[in-house]
Amino acid sequence: MHKIIIDTDPGVDDTMAIAYALAHPDIELLGLTTVFGNINIDYSTRNAQYILDVLGAESVAVARGAAIPLVQSPLPHADFVHGGDGLGNVYPGSQPGAPAPGAAPLRSEARHAQLEPLDAADFIIRSAQEHPGELTIVAVGPLTNVAEALRREPRLPSLVAGLVIMGGCVDEPGNVSPVAEANFLNDPHAADELLAADWPATIVGLDVTHRIMLTDTHLKQLDDQAGETGALIWQSSRFYVDFYTQSGAAKGLDEPQCAMHDAAAVAYVLQPDAFTVEKGAARVVPEGIAIGQLALDRKGYTYAVPHWQDRPASAVCMTVDADRVREHFLRTIISHHRR
Ligand code: BDR
Ligand code: CA
Repeated sequence: MHKIIIDTDPGVDDTMAIAYALAHPDIELLGLTTVFGNINIDYSTRNAQYILDVLGAESVAVARGAAIPLVQSPLPHADFVHGGDGLGNVYPGSQPGAPAPGAAPLRSEARHAQLEPLDAADFIIRSAQEHPGELTIVAVGPLTNVAEALRREPRLPSLVAGLVIMGGCVDEPGNVSPVAEANFLNDPHAADELLAADWPATIVGLDVTHRIMLTDTHLKQLDDQAGETGALIWQSSRFYVDFYTQSGAAKGLDEPQCAMHDAAAVAYVLQPDAFTVEKGAARVVPEGIAIGQLALDRKGYTYAVPHWQDRPASAVCMTVDADRVREHFLRTIISHHRR
C-alpha cells in the first residue's frame, strides 16, 4: 500500500491525478496539500475540496499551503490553460474563456471535512513522522510547500519512502519558455533547494508527460463509464483540450487531446517499471535567460565543478510506455466506478 500526499494546484490535470490516486486500491491518499500555481491559493484550496467532494472523498484532509514562491515575485496564473477557476470554468457562473468570478461554492458544505489546522508544510512533516519510511510525496505544483517542509524539518528526506515530482524537462522543450516547465518556473528556488537534499526523488517531467496524451475519445470514455468522476474530468478538460489543440503540445494534431502531466506522477508510483530513468545531480536555474530550466548531470562529473559539488543524484524519467500508462489510468478510474 502506498501512502501518499498530493501537493497540488488543481488544475485540470491535477484533478486527473487525484481521481487516479483515489481510484487505485494500492494507494491510500492521506491528504491534499495546496499551493498557488495554476490559480491562486484560495482557488487552489477550494478546488481541492470541491474535487474531493465530487469524487466522494470528503474525509481526505486538505491542508492549505503557500500563496507565493519562496524568493521570486509570483508569475501570472495559467488561466489561459486551466480556465479562470482552474477547472476549465466548470464552476457555476464561470464564463468559458474568461476568468471565473470566484471559486465555486462546495456542492455540500455539510458533507465536507474542515480544512486541516496545520498548514501544508507542517501537514507533510507530521504525516512523514507518523508513517516513517512509508509516505510518498507526489508534488504536482510549484515546489514551495515541499521546500518549506524541508526547511522546517531537514530530516524529511530520510523519513519518506519517496518524492515524485511533476516538473522540468531535459531533452523536451519547455512549455512556458524554450527551456522551462511551468511548475519549476513558478518557484525555481524551491525546486533547486529540494534537489540539493538527498531524497529518494524522481522527476516525472515533460520528456515523458508530453508522450502520454489523452484524446477526446479517451476522455469521453471516462465521461460515459466513470460516473461523476468521469464527468468532472470530461467537463473540466474541455477548456484545457482547446488550449492544447490551439497552442499547446497537441497543436496541429488531428484529434483534440491534452497531456495527462500530473496523473503521470501517480502512474510512476503505481508502475515505475513503465518508465526509464537517468540519474544524476540536478539543478534548477533560479534566474536569467534560462530561469526554471532543469539541468541534469548526465555525464557524472566526478571532479569539482562550481555549483555542482555535493549534489546528490536524482532520477529523471526519460522514456515511458505511454500506451500502458494511459490504459492503466483509464482502466483504474472506470473499474473503480464499477465496484
Ligand atoms: C504542470 O503545470 C501545470 O499547469 C500542470 O497542472 C502541471 O502540474 C505541467 O507543466
Ligand atoms: Ca499541477
